[in-house]
Formats: sequence, structure tokens, C-alpha cells
Amino acid sequence: MSSTPPNNPLQSSNKEDFSFLDQALRPSRFDEYVGQETIKNNLKILLQAARERAHPPEHLLFYGPPGLGKTTLAHLIANEIGCQVKSTSGPAIEKVGDLASILTNLSPGDILFIDEIHRLNKTIEEVLYPAMESGVLDIIIGKGPSARTIQLDLPPFTMIAATTRIALLSAPLRSRFSGGTFRLEFYTDEEIEKIVHRSAGILGVTLVDDAARQIAERSRSTPRTANYLLKRARDYAQVQKSDLSSRSVVEALSLLEIDHFGLTALDRKILETIVQKFNGGPVGLSTIAAALSEEMATIEEVNEPYLIQRGLLERTPRGRIATRLAYEHLGLEYPEELAKRLFS
Ligand SMILES: Nc1ncnc2c1ncn2[C@@H]1O[C@H](COP(=O)(O)OP(=O)(O)O)[C@@H](O)[C@H]1O
Ligand SMILES: [Mg+2]
Repeated sequence: MSSTPPNNPLQSSNKEDFSFLDQALRPSRFDEYVGQETIKNNLKILLQAARERAHPPEHLLFYGPPGLGKTTLAHLIANEIGCQVKSTSGPAIEKVGDLASILTNLSPGDILFIDEIHRLNKTIEEVLYPAMESGVLDIIIGKGPSARTIQLDLPPFTMIAATTRIALLSAPLRSRFSGGTFRLEFYTDEEIEKIVHRSAGILGVTLVDDAARQIAERSRSTPRTANYLLKRARDYAQVQKSDLSSRSVVEALSLLEIDHFGLTALDRKILETIVQKFNGGPVGLSTIAAALSEEMATIEEVNEPYLIQRGLLERTPRGRIATRLAYEHLGLEYPEELAKRLFS
């Protein structure tokens, strides 16, 4: 599909990968896909049942923070059932006509992957409902009193959608994912170690266990980050003409300002802002974003999930709060009056 015209919202299935290497690190079978056991077990049953009925699997929705393996799962499912993926994303579908052309160009059994589905426009969403539910496309032809609707039958297909922001999806859209909605979990350090060992093998570098552990600890429990850190450590070791030892991992990653919790400079700045400018909170997200000249969406989707998961930040109805652990991590003393103020 490399001949796709530039403004066509359908992308070739591997367009979003930055390089051949990222594509190469992406697992394409269930036995290579580490962790997420509950999701895998459910999907295996869903796929086998669909196969036995000789029908495409029902529509699936994956959600969770970036880099946990949503896109990978969509491609893996296609590979497991031996069908094609056509990929697009919420913001790429600008007009109803864009969606109509994507849907009418599907072949029977195709997977339609829509990334960032929370950014799909509402009028387009409504065209999607009958397509997902009954496999038909309602098109309005003409305008005014002479306008009429024609209904096109679509080939049977499976829609797989991914989002980092499930709360932004409307209830009617969510309910159409009849195959299931699955939340991807952060990975354990052991799972991340397995992933980086596998990636090191594909990249052709030797990685000692201790170095894999150092990467896992700093990976924010996220495979994409772990693979990124592995590659940066490999670059560092190569330039230093040294082995990919735990020492070169630690040196490479401190050069990137990633600390032993895996926090980036921006993560630490978020915590520092709450602590130093707003006395530990509660402070609203928009205020934090303004104080840091960062986008709210970046902080909310990329930084916060991990800070919350590590117990460094809490989300409350009144705003964000830095925890005792956050103070400790920044090397600051926790003001006991803060606990009194917050919890009395
Ligand atoms: N369960 C997993 N096992 C092994 N590698 C994984 C797994 N999940 C993700 N990865 C790696 O992390 C990268 C990012 O995953 P991706 O599916 O693009 O995340 P998302 O779409 O959720 O942002 C992939 O290219 C793959 O190399
Ligand atoms: Mg993705």
C-alpha cells in the first residue's frame, strides 16, 4: 500500500514505526508477547471461537498509557488469524467521506485498526455505529428535500481501536466493541527483563542479567521505554568501546537524566512544581501545565499514569497531591502539616 496518496487517512500497516528496528522488536505471536496474561487468555478464546465459526472476531477496544503494547496487539491478532490490517487514526479521519472510503475498501476478514479513537469527530462516530453493529454504511446522497439515504453492505471485518483516554469515548461508541474492552496493565520488572533480553537478541547484543535489571528498573514499567533505553545503552557502550554491562547502562541512562525510578527530567519537574510552588497540593492539572509551559494532555497521558502507579502523585477531586514518597524521592523532608491539612 505504499502508493497511498498523501492525504489518504489509511496508512500502510507499519507507517507509524520510526524505523525498521522498532518494527523488528514488535512481537508478532502470542508466545512472544510478554505479560498481559488475562488479555491474552481472553483473546485466544475469542480468536479460536471466531475461527471455528469461520467468522471475523468481534470488535475490540484496547486502552491504557502509551507504549504498553496496544498497537502491537492489533498487529499480532492479524498475524495470528492470518488477515490484513488497515491502519488509521482518529485525527486522520477528517470527513465522513474518509471513513466511507476506508470502510468500502475493506476486504472480507480485514482488521481495521483505529488508533487514538478518542480523537474521532462526533459526526464520523455516528457513521461508525451501523457499520460496527450491522455491517452497513448509510450514505446520504443529495441535499435538502431531495436527499435520500442509501445503504451499502460492508464486507465482514473486525475493528480494533486503541486509546490512551477511554473516558473521552462516548458510551454508545464504547458499547459497540462487542468482542470486549481491555485495559493494558503496566509490566512487572521481571516481564520487562524478559522483553529487553528478547530485544537484545534481535539487536544482536549481549546483555547481562544485571544490566537487564537496571534497564527494567528505569523503564517506567513500559516496554517501549525499555526498548528505547536498551538502544541508548547499546549506543553508549558502542561509542565507549565497552560491554553492555550494568555500569554502562547506568552511565548511559544518567546521561539521559533518567533516575533510578525511571523518572525523566519532566516527571521530576512536575513533582517539584507541586511541592515547591504549591506546597504539595492539591493543585489543578491546568495550573501545573501552565507553570511548566507544558501541554495538559502530555502531563495527563504520559507522565501522570506512571507517577500515580509509583505512588508519587495522587489525583483527588480538588487537584493533584505530591505524596510522602515524592518528597523522599526529591530528597526533601515531608511537611507533617501537609498530611494534617489533607487528611483531617
Ligand atoms: N507485551 C509485549 N512484549 C514484548 N514487547 C512489547 C510488548 N508490548 C509492547 N512491546 C514493545 O513495545 C513497543 C511499543 O508497543 P506499542 O504496541 O507500540 O504500544 P502502544 O500502541 O500501546 O503505545 C513495541 O514496538 C514492542 O517492541
Ligand atoms: Mg500505539
